[in-house]
Order: sequence, then structure tokens, then C-alpha cells
Amino acid sequence: MRKPVIAGNWKLFKSIGESTALINELKPLVAGAGNVEIVVAPVFTALNRVSDAASGSGINLAAQDCFWEEEGAFTGEVAPKLLKDAGCSHVIIGHSERRQYFGETDATVNKKTKAAMAAGLTAIVCVGETLEERESGRTFSVIEEQIQNSLAGIAPEGVAGLIIAYEPVWAIGTGKTASDEQAQEVHAFIRSLILNLFGQTASDAVRILYGGSVKPDNVKGLMGQADIDGALVGGASLKADSFAAIVNFGV
Ligand code: PGA
Repeated sequence: MRKPVIAGNWKLFKSIGESTALINELKPLVAGAGNVEIVVAPVFTALNRVSDAASGSGINLAAQDCFWEEEGAFTGEVAPKLLKDAGCSHVIIGHSERRQYFGETDATVNKKTKAAMAAGLTAIVCVGETLEERESGRTFSVIEEQIQNSLAGIAPEGVAGLIIAYEPVWAIGTGKTASDEQAQEVHAFIRSLILNLFGQTASDAVRILYGGSVKPDNVKGLMGQADIDGALVGGASLKADSFAAIVNFGV
């Protein structure tokens, strides 16, 4: 069985002090969550202190991006092994905001994913269609291209350990969630793509998260879908009570 993952993407919010305060508030609220992989993704500068604060709580730490080289003359970049050094176990790659504002492409997502895996991090690879792509009937072809190119050349055993986040761009930060059925339809499609490209074991094991305005009141319906294995949460992860309510969806 696939272990559910609830991941909070804090984006460009919170100082070191605010981030550690949030973790300290969160810890007791999620202590009884049971069989859920809990992940939070603070800004780079807060990672190490949040890692210390989260120590022993079972809460995992993710970075929001990484570079694909280990070291060198690459001003401003951070290597996967340094994220590990800072306490990360996971890294988000190819979030739609990075694709939209920072020139991220499937090719760079592919390089970053391979580098993250080589460093022993669990990559959370994001895909998703824009409103225009959905309305013009291109959702499935867009997702197919993103999955195929982002995961090109990765071995099936590697894909089995990955996390994929399906985040329809029109649902991110807009308060519009995909319906349970709309989300499930794309999740099932992604799983069938993984089956065709990487085989049964990878398709059974890969965890596919939904992201886009996940809140305490819609998480249960989403998590009830056969191919939805968790959530990538933005806005609602910035407050301990709402994120804890999402983490505790099954309690
Ligand atoms: P949201 O963000 O929950 O605020 O819509 C989700 C995301 O961008 O990962």
C-alpha cells in the first residue's frame, strides 16, 4: 500500500523565527497522525533551523527547488547534497510558479530530479495544466508531455520512489479546487502513463499528490479517490491548525 503524503509548501513566506514557531506549534497537533508522511517546505534560509526544531517529530523537511550540479561556479544555486546537509529528505521540483516565473522547463526538471535522487532526496515532481490548456481540451496531452520529459531516462526503481504532484495551475492559490472526479481522472491518467513508461511496480508504488487549494474541508473527498495518495498544500499550510487538520484527514 502507498503511504499517504501531506506536504506543505510555504513558498516565499515566513522568517526563520516564524518558521520555527510554526513547526513548534504543529508538532503536538500532528503527533497522532499515524501512517502519514508529513513534509514541510520552508524557504532555504530557514531549512536548517526548522530541521533542528522538527527533530524527533517525524516531520520531514523539503526544499522548494535545487540545482543539478554538485558544486562549481554557479552563483546563487543550491546543490541537492547541501539540502541534505541542511536536514532535507525531500525536494519540490518544477512547481508551476518556477515554470511560470523562473524559466523552469521539463528538461531542467529532469536534470534536477536525477540530481536530487542521486543525492538521496525524495523528489516531488510537479506537473499541471493551465486554464487555457484545460479549456482547449489539452489537459491530457500537456500532462503526458510533462511526465514523459520530466522523468526521461530514470530507471523504473527510481520512479517507484518518486512523488508526483498534480497541480492544475488554475487551482493554485485561487480557491478553486478541482473536483474529486476531475482530480482522480488526471491521477489515474498519470498512473497509466507510469505503467506504460516504467511498468507495473513503478506504477503501483509511485505516489501522486493533488495540489491546488487543498483545505481541511475538501481533503477527505480528495483522499478518498483511488489514485490520490496525498496533497501538496500551499496557503492552508501556513497555519498550524489548518495544516494539522489536513494531515489528520483520516483520524
Ligand atoms: P495552494 O497552493 O494550496 O495555495 O493553492 C498549492 C501549491 O502551489 O502547491
